[in-house]
Amino acid sequence: MRAMTVLLSLASARALQRVGGFARSLCGRGATVAPEAATVEAPAPSAYVMPKMEEVVSLCKKRGFVFGSSEIYNGFNGFYDYGPLGSELKRNIKERWWRDMVRARDDVCGVDSSIIASPKIWEASGHVGGFSDPMVDDKTTKKRYRADQLFYAELACDDGSSLGIVTVFESEDTEGDAYKAGKKLAKKAGKTLSRPLVLKCLEDAADGDRPRIPPPDAPDRPGDLTAPRDFNLMFSTSVGAAEDNSAAAYLRPETAQGIFVNFKNVASTARGFKLPYGIGQIGKAFRNEITPRNFIFRSREFEQMEIEYFLPPGDDAWRASHARWIDDCRTWLVEACGLREELLGFEVHDKLAHYALACTDITFKFPFGEQELQGIAARGSFDLKQHTDASGKSLEYFDDGTKEKYLPQVIEPSIGVDRLFLAVVCSAFEEDEVNGEKRSVLKFHPAMAPVKVAILPLVKKDAGINDIAAALYGDLKKRYNCQLDAAGNIGRRYRRQDEIGTPLCVTVDFDSLDDGAVTVRDRDTTDQVRLKIEDVVPYVTKLVEGY
Ligand code: GAP
Repeated sequence: MRAMTVLLSLASARALQRVGGFARSLCGRGATVAPEAATVEAPAPSAYVMPKMEEVVSLCKKRGFVFGSSEIYNGFNGFYDYGPLGSELKRNIKERWWRDMVRARDDVCGVDSSIIASPKIWEASGHVGGFSDPMVDDKTTKKRYRADQLFYAELACDDGSSLGIVTVFESEDTEGDAYKAGKKLAKKAGKTLSRPLVLKCLEDAADGDRPRIPPPDAPDRPGDLTAPRDFNLMFSTSVGAAEDNSAAAYLRPETAQGIFVNFKNVASTARGFKLPYGIGQIGKAFRNEITPRNFIFRSREFEQMEIEYFLPPGDDAWRASHARWIDDCRTWLVEACGLREELLGFEVHDKLAHYALACTDITFKFPFGEQELQGIAARGSFDLKQHTDASGKSLEYFDDGTKEKYLPQVIEPSIGVDRLFLAVVCSAFEEDEVNGEKRSVLKFHPAMAPVKVAILPLVKKDAGINDIAAALYGDLKKRYNCQLDAAGNIGRRYRRQDEIGTPLCVTVDFDSLDDGAVTVRDRDTTDQVRLKIEDVVPYVTKLVEGY
């Protein structure tokens, strides 16, 4: 978070039910408990433990969710590629958001604006002048750091002397990290470090302190960091053959401006456009982050899902809408994406950009700490006014009801697809025990699961079983990403599917040849039920779509 914030508890948040227990709903639809369970499993109850970040990164690579970009060329910092399962999960997130936030709402429509557009947009929006982070360079190694992410502390000893200053990265335990680094120096000097250390942010360092502040990891080089300078985060490019300034353009750092500049176009063409009304967009955004970190949490190329929800002006008119969007977004994250409620929180910004009326983040407890997942800002009419002034074209709205013309104000819910992807994986990551054995399982919400169903013919060599399995696979494949898996014993196949978070396994066995039914096994409960073959597709649809 770039601004100072206040953490609020979840206590006031609406209680929501986590989606789960698929087998219960299956039984409710007239299915019977499987008479011939393909393999009997008994899961022990498990308590959720947040995985370590290394575990998440390694799982994502091993199972084909996310790879570092350009790996065969030793990587490319801040960029990522999504593999076979990752691209499905990412698509599921975007499709569900579009379905619920755009299509299902009568007061929101969508746009898909260009990634590169007139640079005048970014001048008017303030991005050319002000979209920057303070950065410092290590004068010796030339490494670059964000000044607002570095903290320094004087290493005072119990005998009243000082060992100088130590610099550390902001972390969950910044003081602890500084203490550990200082303790090493104190040990060498045969002294005892006083505690607690008083930390100061490098961005706000007093001029007198600067010559004594070393780079992080190099306490022996005090004063070897440059003073902070603003570093614009936009990637520039050039358009057309000319190489001069007239060709300069930017890759968009947010999708929002593509919505603002099209406000008039959409207002005059979208059927039923009547304020309050929103315009949504999903698309790539690019930021030349100085310190991309925490995997896909902060990368240089990412996707955003943003809505600009336009409202009539009025001093306090935005408050109720802002509160409703915060509530709706949080509900969506739990109910549609399956995020664990206990991992979500709120941060209310108390330092706001000059044009903002309010901003609340929905936070998520990632393995590296509680961080912004989604921002919901009340931006007044700043953006429409900036573009009106800069372009000379009025972006006013004519209100048919009041017969007035005005510049609407806006509420902006904005979330990163990649950041939500990471939250979905962290939330689903579980280890439990089945039949006394450790099981690694991704408990994805069915709508998020990259593979919805695995069809498992009990034996490889029976033509009848294989025909049923192939036909069912063919039917399901028309709607969903599914797998047909005939390799290995059933228990091993279940584990394979658990590991990638497949909610249902459907086993075709010898009984299927006689009774036209199959065994459906629930990933989370491992319960098995018998279902008529013709009921499988509607059942999966109900589970995934919710209707
Ligand atoms: N239009 C408003 C806007 O762009 P933001 O807080 O800068 O606001 C919105 O970004 C959301 O985009 C964040 O809440 C986060 O989910 C995502 N996001 C921002 N920067 C990101 C980055 N470098 N990598 C991944 N996601 C990012």
